[in-house]
Amino acid sequence: YIHIPYLFILLGILGEDALLPAPQNISILSTNMKHFLTWSPVTIWGETARYSVEFQGEYEREYANESWIPICECSLITATVCNITDDISATVAYKLRVRADVGARRSEWGTLKGFFNRITTSLTPPLMKVIADGYHLLVELEDMGPAFQFCVLYWKKGQESRMQQKVVKEVSSVVHLDTMEAGSDYCVKAQTYVEAINRSSSFSQTQCVRAEGGTSMWLVTALISSAGFAVVALTLPFLTWKTSQIFQYSCCPVAVLPDTLKVSEPPTQLILCGSEEAEQCDLMVRVMPSEEVLRLWIQ
Ligand SMILES: *[C@@H]1O[C@H](CO)[C@@H](O)[C@H](O)[C@H]1NC(C)=O
Ligand SMILES: *[C@@H]1O[C@H](CO)[C@@H](O)[C@H](O)[C@H]1NC(C)=O
Ligand SMILES: *[C@@H]1O[C@H](CO)[C@@H](O)[C@H](O)[C@H]1NC(C)=O
Ligand SMILES: *[C@@H]1O[C@H](CO)[C@@H](O)[C@H](O)[C@H]1NC(C)=O
Repeated sequence: YIHIPYLFILLGILGEDALLPAPQNISILSTNMKHFLTWSPVTIWGETARYSVEFQGEYEREYANESWIPICECSLITATVCNITDDISATVAYKLRVRADVGARRSEWGTLKGFFNRITTSLTPPLMKVIADGYHLLVELEDMGPAFQFCVLYWKKGQESRMQQKVVKEVSSVVHLDTMEAGSDYCVKAQTYVEAINRSSSFSQTQCVRAEGGTSMWLVTALISSAGFAVVALTLPFLTWKTSQIFQYSCCPVAVLPDTLKVSEPPTQLILCGSEEAEQCDLMVRVMPSEEVLRLWIQ
């Protein structure tokens, strides 16, 4: 029991230090091997609290007399978060603690409940972009840092059983996966892997691309050419008829024939005809079926 007057004396001796509460709600946010210690702010009217963070790894606990190591970047900071990524350098259990300073007053250490081991970091699937460059299947992966590798699975659509795998250890901007068959769809998914903790993320969403020169391209080409053919097939008989009309009146002596007509028959027959043989001349102008004209014209 401490008598009330003695309690006041005790508080007076301890100074104002004892009145500053230790930071609370100390927790770890750890994603993709980036670790942050956070805590609730210590609020003192009109004054800014400054925080300092220390850690203790397995080594300090077992071989260095349970000493604590200050984190320089998080010494007397005003933020309520500390980037501890560089200090968590091994896959072992760490203890962490933080205290507040307001003016000349200093709080007790507030300690993280339990331990933090980076093996518990949450891993997210990589951001990726699948590209069809002609017949090349390429993938672009997010650069997540040197600790990260990627396991990339790819397959021809409809042949999931023949999935192929590629481990990407260094992220260059674009990785070549495969050469694709024309007009086929290929799909890709990837997961991150961190060797230091021997853990993988879940797989990214599957992305599919189509190699060029496929059915759709063939279809487009076919449609365009048949439309072109229709136009030619409709105009050629008209042109041929028109040409024959002109020939009826200006057949002789040296008619300038359209190329299409020159091919099938020697023009000499036409040139030979006399003006009195107009009827005959007319008969000599052979009106070719449009397909034949087109075939000759294409040749
Ligand atoms: C700790 O967090 C809880 C819930 O997140 C909140 O209600 C509480 O006020 C926090 N404590 C401090 C000291 O900020
Ligand atoms: C270990 O810590 C204790 C108390 O904190 C101290 O007395 C002792 O000298 C330390 N030993 C070493 C080897 O630092
Ligand atoms: C935390 O520190 C790591 C390692 O130094 C660094 O890569 C990362 O960008 C930092 N994150 C933030 C948000 O400052
Ligand atoms: C990684 O974990 C797997 C099981 O998830 C295990 O089979 C393998 O041996 C481990 N590798 C290393 C290097 O610890």
